[in-house]
Amino acid sequence: MSGPSLYKLDAHRSIHDGVVTEGRDLLNLLLKVRREKLENHEKHARMTAEALIDHWETRLIAHADSEEENFYNEKIKENPELATPLTMLKRDHDLFRTIIDEVKQLMKKDKISDEMVDYFKAIYVLAKIHNQHEEGYLFDQH
Ligand SMILES: [Fe+2]
Ligand SMILES: [Fe+2]
Repeated sequence: MSGPSLYKLDAHRSIHDGVVTEGRDLLNLLLKVRREKLENHEKHARMTAEALIDHWETRLIAHADSEEENFYNEKIKENPELATPLTMLKRDHDLFRTIIDEVKQLMKKDKISDEMVDYFKAIYVLAKIHNQHEEGYLFDQH
């Protein structure tokens, strides 16, 4: 996900929007499975939680990793005033990683818990806010 797509607002925003929308859809599926409690719901909830972990790792965290590889540093070189906001954005990336690590620990325990769902809700909201701020700081149009 590295490369020129990070450097253009429209392309970068469409990555963000895709990641957040698919994450929201998977989260809603998990909530539905747990609410309806149909046959085998615990198995389905686990499968959905695994898909959510995979989604946030391969789409959100991989995107964050690629931004930190070059993109952020190049932006700071262009405009040193971005150093502080980019440190804050990196902190958000660290929170994404921490949340997913926590969820993986919880997955080793028994069934899908309310606590785990809280983590999935948290990463969704954080990703949404993070992306808005990143678009604002890095593609300032005014
Ligand atoms: Fe980011
Ligand atoms: Fe981004």
